[in-house]
Amino acid sequence: MNILQVIKERRSVRRFQGTSIPKEMIEQLIDALIWAPSAGNLQSRKFYFVYNKEMKEKLVQAAWGQSFIAEAPLAVVCCTDLRIGTYYGSRGKDLYSIQDVSASIENLLLVAHELGLATVWVGAFEEEKVTEILKLPNNLRPVAIIPVGYPAEHPTAPRRVAKEKAVVVIE
Ligand SMILES: Cc1cc2nc3c(=O)[nH]c(=O)nc-3n(C[C@H](O)[C@H](O)[C@H](O)COP(=O)(O)O)c2cc1C
Repeated sequence: MNILQVIKERRSVRRFQGTSIPKEMIEQLIDALIWAPSAGNLQSRKFYFVYNKEMKEKLVQAAWGQSFIAEAPLAVVCCTDLRIGTYYGSRGKDLYSIQDVSASIENLLLVAHELGLATVWVGAFEEEKVTEILKLPNNLRPVAIIPVGYPAEHPTAPRRVAKEKAVVVIE
């Protein structure tokens, strides 16, 4: 698949088969995460790969009952490392930290799709609860939960804005 095809065909999937993900694919997903760009190459991010059913159920509770998180064989909790603020001050802490982890997340979604896996970016959850469930250290802030698994649905693409609306051309 060419990269633009992967980008356009990737969908948010909220129904998963229980089938587990082969180890070689997990390795590729990790590569996708760590090879994303980051401010000053500080890679201020950390990823928790949660396979444990009980813990995934707790994440569902923290995410306002989004039950598909526990249906997927894997939930990746993506965190920013706020220590980036030590190098880049408030711009690092408030902005780069989120951008660093978001670049990794998008890579993950795209490589997963190319491998025939499905994902959805879950941002609606109670941060404090996720922090407590995973016993995260003070420097880590959870920003997204990504359930990963084989798809049990194939949603149609939601509309995108027209190109003219999205882009301002300055010549
Ligand atoms: C920052 C962010 C937070 C999101 N949070 C949720 C969420 O909590 N639950 C959910 O089901 N989808 C969530 N989504 C997925 C969006 O609903 C989805 O990407 C959008 O509707 C476009 O659909 P598509 O991903 O299939 O192109 C989130 C996406 C982003 C980028």
